[in-house]
Amino acid sequence: MFETLFTPNPSVETKVSIRPRKGVIIGAGQVGMACAYSLMIQNCFDELILQDVQTERLQGEVMDLMHGVPFVEPVEIKAGTVADVGQNADLVIITAGATQKPGESRLALVVRNVAIFKQIVPDIVQYCPNATLLIVSNPVDIMTYVTLKLSGFPPARVIGSGTVLDSARFRTLLGQKMGIDPRSVHAYIIGEHGDSEVPVWSKVNIAGMSLEVQEGNSASENAGLQALFDRVKNAGYEILKLKGSTSYAIGLATTEIVKAILHGQERVLTVSALVNDFYGIHDVCLSLPCVVNEKGVIKTVNLTLNDTEQTQLLHSAQVLRDIFDTLTL
Ligand code: 2OP
Repeated sequence: MFETLFTPNPSVETKVSIRPRKGVIIGAGQVGMACAYSLMIQNCFDELILQDVQTERLQGEVMDLMHGVPFVEPVEIKAGTVADVGQNADLVIITAGATQKPGESRLALVVRNVAIFKQIVPDIVQYCPNATLLIVSNPVDIMTYVTLKLSGFPPARVIGSGTVLDSARFRTLLGQKMGIDPRSVHAYIIGEHGDSEVPVWSKVNIAGMSLEVQEGNSASENAGLQALFDRVKNAGYEILKLKGSTSYAIGLATTEIVKAILHGQERVLTVSALVNDFYGIHDVCLSLPCVVNEKGVIKTVNLTLNDTEQTQLLHSAQVLRDIFDTLTL
């Protein structure tokens, strides 16, 4: 019946001239679905595959998203895996894994999530050999390193969401404190996405002005800044306690990284990536401001850190190194 509605063009060729932008999200839990929704409403992919072990709920998630397509730019969202409909994806986003219980540290998830990654990474390597991998699962720096080792992919295209979310939280709280739009605040959190993360106070830039955080600041000024940073560092725990998980902001942060890759934006983002030869740090995945485009992490910003920041970053790298050294991959 529907065939009569259209007349096919006989000159159409079989070869595809413009490849559809294709992504896979492995893990359709709270974070995975927040990523899917954000990517959908920001028109990132033409084809988005959702992969999860809970296949029945997954069907419901896909149906629910697809019914919203008339309100956004066209996208085909399907349930599947990297081994079937997800083959040759441009980007594979991994949110799968155990999640923190209230009060539990991200690092406590390592053993469970390494076992899960050992199951999912081989298929990614086989069926999406040219994809950029974006790891969101916690502890994200460890899981980025694990993915790098298990996949054997070039480090440039094995990227963790890292402290992109923490830097956003930092900018939000600074903006609230100063009464200005956080988009006019440049501020980095670097190191581990976790308890040892580092605020780079010396490079905070508010509306083009540096925040004169001198070592000799008054105790009350430092106390105010320390309290602000503590809210940034502990935000994940706080939200976990209040609503059971975090989702929307990490979904939006992940989308920023995806847009930098898919649109070749040369964005500076504090993603987690393999770090060698930075303040003596070697063979560790952690967050530094990096330039991200369609090739992945193409450059690292050579931040000049003050003594306090250097000490804190080296401590953060050691915390992660100590965990990496316990892994058997
Ligand atoms: C967050 O910081 C839990 O890592 C997650 O929101």
